[in-house]
Amino acid sequence: MKKKLTANELRQKYIDFFVSKGHSQISGASLIPENDPTVLFTTAGMHPLVPYILGAEHPAGNKLCDYQKCIRTGDIDVVGDPHHLTFFEMLGNWSLGSYFKKEAIDYSYEFLTKEIGIDPEILSVTVFEGDDEVPRDTVAAETWKKHGIPEERIYFMPRSDNWWGPAGETGPCGPDSEMFIDTGRPKCGPDCKPGCSCGKYFEIWNDVFMGYQKLENGKYVEMDRKCVDTGMGIERTIAILQGKKNVYETEVFTPIIAGIESLCSVKYGDSDDTDKSVRILADHIRTSVFILGDQKGIGPSNVGQGYILRRLIRRAIRHGRKLGIEGAFLTKLSSIVIDLYSNAYPELLEHTEFINNELVAEEEKFSKTLEKGEREFEKMVPNILKGKAKMIPGRMAFKLYDTYGFPIELTKELAAENGLDVDEEGFNKAFEKHQELSRSGADKQFKGGLADHSEKTTALHTATHMLHAALRQVLGDHVGQKGSNITVDRLRFDFTHPQKVTKEELQQVEDIVNEQISRNLDVTCETMTIEEAKEQGAIAFFASKYGEQVKVYSIGDFSKEVCGGPHVKNTSEMGRFKIKKEQSSSAGIRRIKAVLIKD
Ligand code: ALA
Repeated sequence: MKKKLTANELRQKYIDFFVSKGHSQISGASLIPENDPTVLFTTAGMHPLVPYILGAEHPAGNKLCDYQKCIRTGDIDVVGDPHHLTFFEMLGNWSLGSYFKKEAIDYSYEFLTKEIGIDPEILSVTVFEGDDEVPRDTVAAETWKKHGIPEERIYFMPRSDNWWGPAGETGPCGPDSEMFIDTGRPKCGPDCKPGCSCGKYFEIWNDVFMGYQKLENGKYVEMDRKCVDTGMGIERTIAILQGKKNVYETEVFTPIIAGIESLCSVKYGDSDDTDKSVRILADHIRTSVFILGDQKGIGPSNVGQGYILRRLIRRAIRHGRKLGIEGAFLTKLSSIVIDLYSNAYPELLEHTEFINNELVAEEEKFSKTLEKGEREFEKMVPNILKGKAKMIPGRMAFKLYDTYGFPIELTKELAAENGLDVDEEGFNKAFEKHQELSRSGADKQFKGGLADHSEKTTALHTATHMLHAALRQVLGDHVGQKGSNITVDRLRFDFTHPQKVTKEELQQVEDIVNEQISRNLDVTCETMTIEEAKEQGAIAFFASKYGEQVKVYSIGDFSKEVCGGPHVKNTSEMGRFKIKKEQSSSAGIRRIKAVLIKD
């Protein structure tokens, strides 16, 4: 590599390069999406451009480039490891009906190898292998070949790997071609290839060939006017260009980490435990500053984006205390973040006062109760550890929330650190009882169990049983339900499993559920004792809750589970099952979110 680029240099080089290729630089948008109620934050550079990709004329022309601040909240709970971030910057170039695959790849190749000096020998790429709906992407593959990437480093991959979008529930999407840098580490096994989680291959850029639109009914239609959307993550790319092990070692984090070190006696590198707290604090303060300092200036609250912000700030404070930082400290760190980014994001300077006032207020509010709440929590741990359930009761979690301001996620983190679970359903019930539930927007995240028995939630409930059965088939009998939450839009299912479920496994699970749905299975219910139910092989994870006589629901011969209902009468009422997300919920527990799509 020619030179170890900094984030500021990479950002500028990228923009200069694409401007020199006839693109107009546009301003990145707010972190709060304009027209998309299905997501809380802007998650990619293309997000604000959706109307233009769908056909509207962009005032700056049909070739664009920018850098965009993005937040992805799916991984909040795993931030703390060396790789995950809640906030990142994305570089992007777009063709709105101008160039397509060939030129996009030409630009990518030229930028990577000529502008930032990446040795073509360490580049691997993936392209879409094709399926029933969309053909194999031979154009992309041929273009890479023309540039000298040999066949063995061009990987044809399925839709689960090489299809991007839509950003929310609906919108433009298409097959993509992803670029990876080979770190030179040995392959972890014979199947090791780009996308493998072992870390040998490091993804730095994604060219999406936006040729399709996903509609509300779940169908994909081809768009007349084809577009290109690309995305390069700045933090990841500079880490690899600088030969750093991870993003936290780059200059966008080292000053924040030095700031943290100056506030306590801990040094980054001292221990895994303190490193984790340092990374959480560094990530969360950076993200909080960007949310507070956004054009749309969001403050902490109990709903939507404000609730995410509150979680981030409160978790940052708790980890600050764990590191031994005393007194108010957030604004000492926020000023470092503002300094780092005010050139690229002048809105941070404009909103400095708001950022700092809000941080001080939230810190004051939470610092008062954090210690008391932690003491209360610690008092109950020994008793719970003695019990069988190893579970923080819902009413206790609610008390921590209501009296001490602990977001449920924070209680879960505390619980996990002590080897405990939290009875989330019980928490949700307590929450509802106190009638604090605002029915609006993102607060749906608190709605637990089957609060309404509409057709949609009933079908999702049946889908939950089928998901459970399919997961046990694919992953093994150790899979057990840990929690379930259903809204009219989606199901959420937490279950025991020690590692990330792979894309292939998820695909298998999805296929099994859809195959069973398509068998038009009758769903039947019988009442029996819990012992009889178990003898018949019914899954009964919450057995103690049901008392002597229990209802057992059978979905054909596919699933049998002790449950209170309600369910659909026949799986033909359900629609198509689709997994939207798989993530960690807490230690040893995975979470899947899935939907049913009626065609
Ligand atoms: N929108 C594409 C992505 O986020 C480029 O990967």
